Amino acid sequence: MSDGAAERRALAGRLVQEGALTTPAWRAAVESVPRELFLNPGVFLYEGGRWRPATALGSDPAEWLRIAYTPDTLTTQLDGHLTADQVSEPVAGLPTSSSTTPALVVSMIESLDVQDGHQVLEIGTGTGYSAALMCHRLGEDNVTTVEVDPEVASRADAALEAAGFSTWTVTGDGLLGHPRRAPYDRVIATCAVRRIPYTWVRQTKPGGIILATVGSWANGAGLAKVTVNEDGTAEGRIIGRASFMQARSQAATPVAGDLGARTAYADSERQTKVSPLMLDEWMPAFLAQVAAPGAQLVRAKTNGGAELLYLFDPERESWAEFTPDGDDWQVRQGGPVTLWDDVEEALLAWQEEGSPDITAVRLHITDRCHTYWIGGQQIATRTSSHWIGDEAALRWQHRLTNRP
Ligand SMILES: C[S@@+](CC[C@H](N)C(=O)[O-])C[C@H]1O[C@@H](n2cnc3c(N)ncnc32)[C@H](O)[C@@H]1O
Repeated sequence: MSDGAAERRALAGRLVQEGALTTPAWRAAVESVPRELFLNPGVFLYEGGRWRPATALGSDPAEWLRIAYTPDTLTTQLDGHLTADQVSEPVAGLPTSSSTTPALVVSMIESLDVQDGHQVLEIGTGTGYSAALMCHRLGEDNVTTVEVDPEVASRADAALEAAGFSTWTVTGDGLLGHPRRAPYDRVIATCAVRRIPYTWVRQTKPGGIILATVGSWANGAGLAKVTVNEDGTAEGRIIGRASFMQARSQAATPVAGDLGARTAYADSERQTKVSPLMLDEWMPAFLAQVAAPGAQLVRAKTNGGAELLYLFDPERESWAEFTPDGDDWQVRQGGPVTLWDDVEEALLAWQEEGSPDITAVRLHITDRCHTYWIGGQQIATRTSSHWIGDEAALRWQHRLTNRP
């Protein structure tokens, strides 16, 4: 029976060919860390619209290795609790923990530009596979990994031990970082965030790098890479597209119920300057989230089958409703935040710059706000109140002002 070494070499070879794996030290990590150790008690494979459970115990060993080394993301938990050993038939559910596709994990850790001796903080331990790769490269004492789900964290910790790494696996909300072991040279998040929390900047050494997926829509997130400055600010750019499950406390509750009631009282109505259908594309979707954090794009149908399109920000009781008008679109807006005005302004600025790819976006973070640019154009400046509600923002600013 194979011990998995051939599969690991084949995986490394594939990642090299794809351009995800370029450095000998990371190649050695991929060739050494057994992914199958991190998949206990099993995985869910998406087939025919449902999740089929597959476990090591219930599979032929060769089949289990084949599953472990597929290039795909392997879902290990559904709906915040369900694992593959708890069901025998395919089930419905939403993935809440996984072993991310090795191509994405490896290309991300390559982008971290780590050096020997660096201290790394990972947010989103998941199975522990990515933490194990980093332990192999840097040593177990140099890796701290935070997982919000206690059961997931405990399984990852056991898998890391089994792989020979006594890592610092911390159970907690990674949006707070892990001050006890700060400062770090590198921070990497393998769950998506609406914005990079300032606390990560505070916990990173000057010159250190933070890498995180920013955005909460499935098709429209960007991988941000920022460097922390001596003055406690951070700056960098979006280095590519990325797709990760959302940090748990930031996962949006889908807008449901009577949409007509939500849009009953409009404050304004006008023709749009650009089509809202642009938001189906990745870059405009990314810009929409930067310009209107917290907004969700919602599609629905009337009883007669007519398509309906909205932006909703339930927390701020703000919305925009789009209606086709010949070749144009009408927008009705309501609530304290004119969502579409903000999104449209960002889209127009992007078009003025020649509609470049997501990698043209630069970003600057201070303790008070996040500013995004494309070329010479400022796309959006967002203070804390754009994300966390005015009352919470005031408390937050009060804490910052009065911090030791
Ligand atoms: C895509 S998985 C991580 C993949 C993992 N690094 C791997 O390759 O094995 C994302 C993980 O982030 C965790 N997570 C979500 N929100 C979090 C938070 N606020 N703090 C820490 N972990 C979080 C989820 O529970 C999930 O296990």
